[in-house]
Amino acid sequence: MQLGMIGLGKMGANMARRLLKQGHQCVVFNRSPKPVQELVRENAVGASSLADLVKKLDKSRVVWLMIPAAVVDKTITDLVPHLQPGDTLIDGGNSYYIDDIRRAKELATKGVHYVDVGTSGGVKGLERGYCMMIGGEQEVVHRFDPIFKTLAPEPKYQPESTHRESQERHPADEERERTNNHSGKTQALRGTRGLLHDDGIGNRRGR
Ligand SMILES: NC(=O)c1ccc[n+]([C@@H]2O[C@H](COP(=O)([O-])OP(=O)(O)OC[C@H]3O[C@@H](n4cnc5c(N)ncnc54)[C@H](OP(=O)(O)O)[C@@H]3O)[C@@H](O)[C@H]2O)c1
Repeated sequence: MQLGMIGLGKMGANMARRLLKQGHQCVVFNRSPKPVQELVRENAVGASSLADLVKKLDKSRVVWLMIPAAVVDKTITDLVPHLQPGDTLIDGGNSYYIDDIRRAKELATKGVHYVDVGTSGGVKGLERGYCMMIGGEQEVVHRFDPIFKTLAPEPKYQPESTHRESQERHPADEERERTNNHSGKTQALRGTRGLLHDDGIGNRRGR
């Protein structure tokens, strides 16, 4: 698949690399140009601005934001005039889920789909893959299954709990606990976002 990646920091650059290695096409943009130049050497298509990134993507476009939560709204404001109905915006950073619900509603009025993906994995994600909590319209989310599948950890990094017959502790438990602690703290609330979005609970919280 083809994807536009905005934000080539510790997360976004390696996510683009993982996608490129598995045969996806990435159009990449970053505020400072160096990470773009590096990824172009690894077969990405470089973009010089948000408008240029949108121009270089095939319709219907999918654009993934991997930037600090604090700059997501500003980036969406700058990006949206270049998007068209049917395009999809994915926020893979650590946005507050209430903001995701608001953005999904605002973008829906323009015919732009919004998917929020709480993503964990750090720099090791390039090799090991990324844990993702995905919220959005079901049909839209499934369109991007090939991307999520490529980003997700391979089975060798998801050891089965075959030891569960006994009380014995297994090294895999410790690894899973470390991952869960991180994911849980940053994303537990976001994980319920799809549910809250569907039944409107997020609205009743007053934001
Ligand atoms: N690092 C992790 O282990 C990790 C794990 C899970 C989730 N996350 C989340 O993933 C997202 C990205 O994290 P990261 O670790 O990749 O961050 P990072 O390494 O600090 O990179 C931040 C990226 O956002 C860009 N950026 C920063 N301020 C900007 C602004 N005002 N306008 C436009 N672009 C701006 C940076 O551009 P420049 O290169 O020009 O500075 C850079 O591309 C965040 O939401 C973070 O919370 C991170």
